[in-house]
Amino acid sequence: VKMKEVRVVIVGFGVIGRGVLQTLREKQGFIRGKHGVNIKVSAICEIDGSVISNEGLDLDKVLDKPLNKNKFWTDKKTRDVIINTQSDIVVELTPGNIKTGEPGLSHILTAISAKKHVATSNKAPFAVAYKRIMDSARKNKVSVRFEATVGGAIPIMNLMDECLSVNKVESAYGILNGTTNYVLSQMSDEGVELDSAVKEAQQLGYAEPDPSYDIDGVDSAAKVVILANALLGMDVSYEDMKVTGIREITPEAIDLAKKHGFTVKLVGDVLRLEVSPRLVSVDHPLNVSGSLNALMLNTDVAGDVTIVGRGAGSRETSSSIIADIVTISKEL
Ligand SMILES: NC(=O)c1ccc[n+]([C@@H]2O[C@H](COP(=O)([O-])OP(=O)(O)OC[C@H]3O[C@@H](n4cnc5c(N)ncnc54)[C@H](OP(=O)(O)O)[C@@H]3O)[C@@H](O)[C@H]2O)c1
Repeated sequence: VKMKEVRVVIVGFGVIGRGVLQTLREKQGFIRGKHGVNIKVSAICEIDGSVISNEGLDLDKVLDKPLNKNKFWTDKKTRDVIINTQSDIVVELTPGNIKTGEPGLSHILTAISAKKHVATSNKAPFAVAYKRIMDSARKNKVSVRFEATVGGAIPIMNLMDECLSVNKVESAYGILNGTTNYVLSQMSDEGVELDSAVKEAQQLGYAEPDPSYDIDGVDSAAKVVILANALLGMDVSYEDMKVTGIREITPEAIDLAKKHGFTVKLVGDVLRLEVSPRLVSVDHPLNVSGSLNALMLNTDVAGDVTIVGRGAGSRETSSSIIADIVTISKEL
């Protein structure tokens, strides 16, 4: 088999950026053997500069010391690198503002206009401007893949594209935020108050120092927007969502639910564009514990399909991002 060489630019070198390169280093041989694709990293962009090498960067050197100590370090900024570095795919891994979608939205639109394909874990640009991004991709004849934006490692978009491709999704319900699911599980199992469960989640590294994006349902809602567009063919953005978080949930309420055979979960209802705490029967497939995520798809031919897995984590999320890179590479 002829080996296909593919060059990627990584934008954002934080938890996920490093995770992607660590998994790539580990799996490069496997990907070459199984898919006939040789993935080379031609640049990595941070906020204040980038490392660039058209021959492909040495991943050991990039991972083992600060980026600005690498011999290929330059002060070239992201936009310049996206447009001017020889590459096939831009991998966008920056944090996103849910109101503006930036800086990822500009990075993605710039990449598309420069005829680069895109793979990303950044949900904000899609929660703000899904249709704009996809229309631009169609016009410029490039692929934009975003499996990792919803449910981390869990295959959702790719599952619908491939295995469930003859199905229409009629509705979908998801547990789409690991932090809130962990907090609710702890409140239920240990009878603790919300605040102390949140503190524990922070100590374990599940929750951010400011956990309000999770606790108030914002993160889940951004994911519901993406699913509504991608799976149900809607044309909606974050503003269309009705969102209630879990701040008002007490251990007493959970206890009462338990006595009647229910548990309380923060559920994203994709058809109704709603995120809210709901009673879920203890034997329902969406009753997943700890920080797990789950999505139930109600489809017209296959019936109900529920997928469960890790919704976050750098290694787990890199699984989806690299799968998207491989899929795009095979189409080139
Ligand atoms: N962590 C997870 O488990 C997970 C799971 C699924 C999806 N995601 C999504 O993946 C994305 C990355 O998450 P993360 O956890 O890796 O965040 P992170 O650790 O904060 O890393 C983001 C990196 O992007 C850099 N950056 C910001 N603006 C930039 C710009 N204009 N040009 C180049 N680099 C820029 C940041 O630099 P500075 O440090 O200098 O600001 C930082 O190094 C986010 O959108 C997140 O929502 C994360």
